[in-house]
Amino acid sequence: MAGSLSIVILAAGQGRRMHSDLPKVLHQLAGKPLLQHVINTATQLPHRAMYIVCGHGADELQARFPSPELHWVQQPQQLGTGHAVAQAMDAIPDTDQVLVLYGDIPLTTHRTLERLTEAAQQTGIAIMTGELPDASGYGRIVRDAAGTVQAIVEEKDADDAQRAITEINSGILTVEAKRLQPWLQALNNSNAGKEYYLTDIIAMAVAEGIAVPAISPDHWQEIQGVNDRQQLAELERYYQFGLAQYLMWNGVTLLDPTRFDCRGELQIGRDVSIDINAVFEGKVSIGNHVRIGPNCRISNASLGDHVIVKDNTVIEDARIGEHCSIGPFARIRPETELADHVAVGNFVEIKKSQVQSGSKINHLAYVGDSEVGKDVNIGAGAITCNYDGANKYKTVIGNDVFIGSNSQLVAPVTIGDHATIAAGTTVTKDVQASSLEANKRERKVVKNWQRPKKK
Ligand code: UD1
Ligand code: MG
Repeated sequence: MAGSLSIVILAAGQGRRMHSDLPKVLHQLAGKPLLQHVINTATQLPHRAMYIVCGHGADELQARFPSPELHWVQQPQQLGTGHAVAQAMDAIPDTDQVLVLYGDIPLTTHRTLERLTEAAQQTGIAIMTGELPDASGYGRIVRDAAGTVQAIVEEKDADDAQRAITEINSGILTVEAKRLQPWLQALNNSNAGKEYYLTDIIAMAVAEGIAVPAISPDHWQEIQGVNDRQQLAELERYYQFGLAQYLMWNGVTLLDPTRFDCRGELQIGRDVSIDINAVFEGKVSIGNHVRIGPNCRISNASLGDHVIVKDNTVIEDARIGEHCSIGPFARIRPETELADHVAVGNFVEIKKSQVQSGSKINHLAYVGDSEVGKDVNIGAGAITCNYDGANKYKTVIGNDVFIGSNSQLVAPVTIGDHATIAAGTTVTKDVQASSLEANKRERKVVKNWQRPKKK
């Protein structure tokens, strides 16, 4: 292969069939824009520079990818893939090898791209082809009787025999800049699409006696582009199933690998069991022997060993220690830290709080902006009143405190160690250690009380 590698990613097209206001390459697969997948894979190849050809939604694209490593090339009018690549050529030295990728083909592996660049070592050019479940709409690979690649014919320009060919052009190819330059200049748009087809350079190479090797990926999904939302959903399932398989091979039990979704990076220990419809987002790390119940969402969180997350629990931006039990129906909101052996039960919401080990908040409670000590018991329906309508205040609860059911702790407030708050108490002042706090309430009894009757 010649010199160093220049990578050109085509992303100027509109993606009409998505029927969307969002540029196509910004649609997400596994929680990341399609273009991000392509950039991430390309980054793994040693290269001199990466160019992204943009047109539709160019401003939105550039704003979404502010990396100074990316060189943006404008193609205001989409006159074809050949025209698109030509826009980047001014910046590319003659001695470079050019690798053309599409921003809407997200799942090519870097190993497959390496095989492509290796295949180009002999003649300076190689293409990536394959068989898809449905070849319609794609350029077809025309070979001679000996099986040598002769040309790529676009479907619009193909005759019946060519249309019957099942080997399609992925669009991904690599070619030496010094050869590509004159071929691009020689392109014309006298074809059915009235476009400057990059694919026409194959016949030009062949006419000059240059062999064009074709390689295929291990899995056809690697060259499947996203043209509509159905293809996007199909690739999403392929990606998720691949990840699910990987986890299972590494000691994770998935009760149904087809109902598993990771939209980020998941680090996971041994003997973890994950029930159906779990969604992981952002950076999540999970220790050993963790059990996750059905329908849970876990975002940017770490879970220690032996944690049990029960059904329908949501955990966001939180750190959970070892041996904690959370849920069912619990909501752990950002900046929450639970130490070891903390129990959080049903319909409990915790926000921006630290809860020390051994504490229990088992039913229908709200704990916000709080520090909760060790071995505290917070009863059903107890809440911290952390917000006065304008500002947020802190609640500090000492060790071994008992907060009776249906109490309100009006922040800012501090409850000393070993204090007891009677059920139904509104606490507005600090409570001293080891004391009992209860509101004054008179008992009222009416004998033979008649309930109202329906009119
Ligand atoms: C192209 C190939 C076809 C191949 C198919 C694979 C050509 C002429 N045809 O056809 O052989 O089977 O891809 O998906 O190359 N783009 C630009 N600027 C343009 C035109 C396109 O940046 O002026 C970008 C698009 O955003 C897209 C890619 O290039 O990412 C392919 O363009 P598209 O219009 O989808 O080409 P196809 O007709 O699908
Ligand atoms: Mg296309």
